[in-house]
Amino acid sequence: QEPLRLGLAGLGTVGSSVARLIEQHGDDLAARIGRPVRVTGISARDRSRSRDFSTTGIEWFDDPVALARSDATDVFVELMGGEDGVALQSVTTALEHGKSVVTANKALLAKHGNRLAQLSEEHGGALAFEAAVGGGIPVIKTLREALGGNRVSRVYGILNGTCNYILSRMEAEGISFGDCLRDAQALGYAEADPTFDVEGYDAAHKLSILTSIAFGTRIDRDSIFIEGISSIEPVDFAAAEELGYRIKLIGVAKRAESGIEQRVHPAMVPKDCDIARIKGVTNAVAIDGDFIGSLMLSGPGAGGNATASAVVGDIVDLARGARTPPLGRPTSSMEPYVRAKIQKH
Ligand code: HSE
Repeated sequence: QEPLRLGLAGLGTVGSSVARLIEQHGDDLAARIGRPVRVTGISARDRSRSRDFSTTGIEWFDDPVALARSDATDVFVELMGGEDGVALQSVTTALEHGKSVVTANKALLAKHGNRLAQLSEEHGGALAFEAAVGGGIPVIKTLREALGGNRVSRVYGILNGTCNYILSRMEAEGISFGDCLRDAQALGYAEADPTFDVEGYDAAHKLSILTSIAFGTRIDRDSIFIEGISSIEPVDFAAAEELGYRIKLIGVAKRAESGIEQRVHPAMVPKDCDIARIKGVTNAVAIDGDFIGSLMLSGPGAGGNATASAVVGDIVDLARGARTPPLGRPTSSMEPYVRAKIQKH
């Protein structure tokens, strides 16, 4: 059997974990899929850096766009990050060449996902992004495939591991915001620019993707009400505790009378509810559907290995020939997005 050839762009926390996973589980993957999966090309910022996986036999590309269009790769795996620039250029190039793309880049999808989904449909390559939302939690596939028979009325949850880690530690240990953030960065949870985490943008990017899958609409990040956690102080935890609440950064998308409402902000949640029990870097997504009722998925929401697990899950799907419209419906049949009247509470 011919191997599935991967071009891997970006060898940071997630990219390195993907390469290691494929190296360590290569035989299992080949047995499971029926064909080998190989990283055949890589591109990263610094060629001279030592890597924790074997690069023998892997072609180096200085330019990720050249890797994206290379005839020597079947699937382009974009793990560089960034909502424009080389990430956008290389993903666009791969899709225009009819290649499939796997990405964990929620910022890119939140801004350009509609156009990229259209390109994927026009040229026949798949666009897969399970790792873009909730780290290792299989929430995209759950919503799009397993719950595909439902009408979803609401999706909400904890969508940023860094914020939940900070809030959990500030509450339990009284540690300062700055110290918690530094630890989250050292553990590889935070974005390159942690403002994206603490000001709620990262959660908003993920929410915009979830909303489009849950409701069959275009992605619309610009209508999201966003408030982050940077102004939360120790005194807020004391006040919440006294009233029997915890403070969480919550993302919510729901059908309201005026349309689909999306918001991200800190919220007081009763201590005995499921969401309140989610601690540390864990993410959780609760889904209300008309036939399923309510369910909640939770698990590791950030970090190299957990995110790599979701990336490789998408690669396994592609190797098996999965073809699903990226946004849950063909883009040609999507309803126009209805701007919501934003209400915080
Ligand atoms: N910075 C993100 C988080 C990484 O903390 O959740 C996962 O998308």
